[in-house]
Amino acid sequence: MSLPNKMIYVTFFVLLITNIILCESSSSEYQTNQKQYEQNPAIKRLQEYIQIDTSIEENAELAVEFWKRQAEELGLPYAVYRPLGLPIFVMTLTGRQPELPSIMLNSHADVVPAGADLWIYPPFSGHVDENGNLHGRGSQDTKDVGIQYIEAVRKLIQNNVTLERTVHITVMPDEETGGFRGIVPFVETEEFKSLNIGFALDEGFTSQDNTMYVTYQDKRPWQIKFIIRGNGGHGSIVASGNVIEGLQRFLNIAMEYRNEQMQIQNSTHVFDFGAYTSVNINMIEGGVAPNVVPTNVTVIMDMRLSVDAEVNDVQDMLNSWMAELGDESSIEYIRRVENSPATAVDETNPYWMAMRDTIKELGLTVVPIVCPATSDMVVVRTKAIPALGFTTKTNMIPKLHDIDEYIALDQFLKGIDIYEALLKKLGNLA
Ligand SMILES: *[C@@H]1O[C@H](CO)[C@@H](O)[C@H](O)[C@H]1NC(C)=O
Ligand SMILES: *[C@@H]1O[C@H](CO)[C@@H](O)[C@H](O)[C@H]1NC(C)=O
Ligand SMILES: *[C@@H]1O[C@H](CO)[C@@H](O)[C@H](O)[C@H]1NC(C)=O
Ligand SMILES: [Zn+2]
Repeated sequence: MSLPNKMIYVTFFVLLITNIILCESSSSEYQTNQKQYEQNPAIKRLQEYIQIDTSIEENAELAVEFWKRQAEELGLPYAVYRPLGLPIFVMTLTGRQPELPSIMLNSHADVVPAGADLWIYPPFSGHVDENGNLHGRGSQDTKDVGIQYIEAVRKLIQNNVTLERTVHITVMPDEETGGFRGIVPFVETEEFKSLNIGFALDEGFTSQDNTMYVTYQDKRPWQIKFIIRGNGGHGSIVASGNVIEGLQRFLNIAMEYRNEQMQIQNSTHVFDFGAYTSVNINMIEGGVAPNVVPTNVTVIMDMRLSVDAEVNDVQDMLNSWMAELGDESSIEYIRRVENSPATAVDETNPYWMAMRDTIKELGLTVVPIVCPATSDMVVVRTKAIPALGFTTKTNMIPKLHDIDEYIALDQFLKGIDIYEALLKKLGNLA
């Protein structure tokens, strides 16, 4: 199709004007939004929380100071437990019937390291940009969720709502490194038992469309250190039994297995995370000098077992890999979770039914899936407590553990209302 010249010019001119007008109005609209966001108390609290660099273990104490201030502001009782030194924070909104099993709202204060030089905005700034996004490590994983909990509780208090059940907001110090000094020892304590938890919510899966997801089972993490050994010597001697020969054999076997699992992943639904075992080699260390043949190389592999994988079968497979590497090589487990129970997501679980109905009433959809990774809930579920991983984050690019992690603030604020609605339902379950 061709247009007469005059019409092209006119069309171009109109488009140009429209563009200028649109750009001007939307950029000033953004700026007002940006200002409004920066002055919003909930967003200010998220910003303050993100500014505590909890990728450093010592700063767990600063995070607890932050949480104490939140509890004091709301006049709610709190406690700090230290089963193995690191602080676990618990604040409590007491229900009208405190003898009923309580609701646990769990999140973790620690974040993974950021690698600041690669970020557009400094990772511990909490910078709010002109598109209404707040940038920072922890903005999706999972400081946002911690703040949403407390803001939802604040709204209940402001609206004079008293729930039947008690609600505990719990904050763990070391989820990212396995919870070995946090949730793992905590669930064994009398203090944990006395919280009398009937149902727990924890961090969840960021969704790229309108659908929300709840995770009802976590994949079992096996994080393994393989120490491959061989003959050392002068860097000029080409001898057999070189450690890199072993490394090559190892990588071939492991990557072949990875490929098989990737095929399963490719042939199943994109959200069927339970169908395959994930395999990634994430660290390779070795070598002493350019002219020295090393005697060992260390390979660290991260596996998350498929839901139906048998522990014995996986163990047999790993043993057969080790047999290829000779007696000198060895294997150590950094993390080896054998058992990861599922929480029922059907009519046998009244908490789930209440959650599903609440979300439906809000005109939204929630779909249960297996969690591709692992959260503190894997530990809570072993105590026969139903626990679901959940986040209200939809229509958002998942940025967990990534550079330039950010959260869209309209979503963050909407999520607070969703939690408020959920608490009214879960907290009043008969
Ligand atoms: C909550 O109760 C207080 C004290 O009774 C009252 O002043 C306030 O207006 C109430 N707020 C709401 C939102 O009902
Ligand atoms: C799986 O799918 C991805 C993306 O389409 C493709 O790049 C990869 O080669 C596939 N792998 C296997 C093992 O099928
Ligand atoms: C690997 O070799 C280096 C250099 O000889 C040595 O210092 C280190 O202890 C060895 N590591 C293991 C795990 O054997
Ligand atoms: Zn997390």
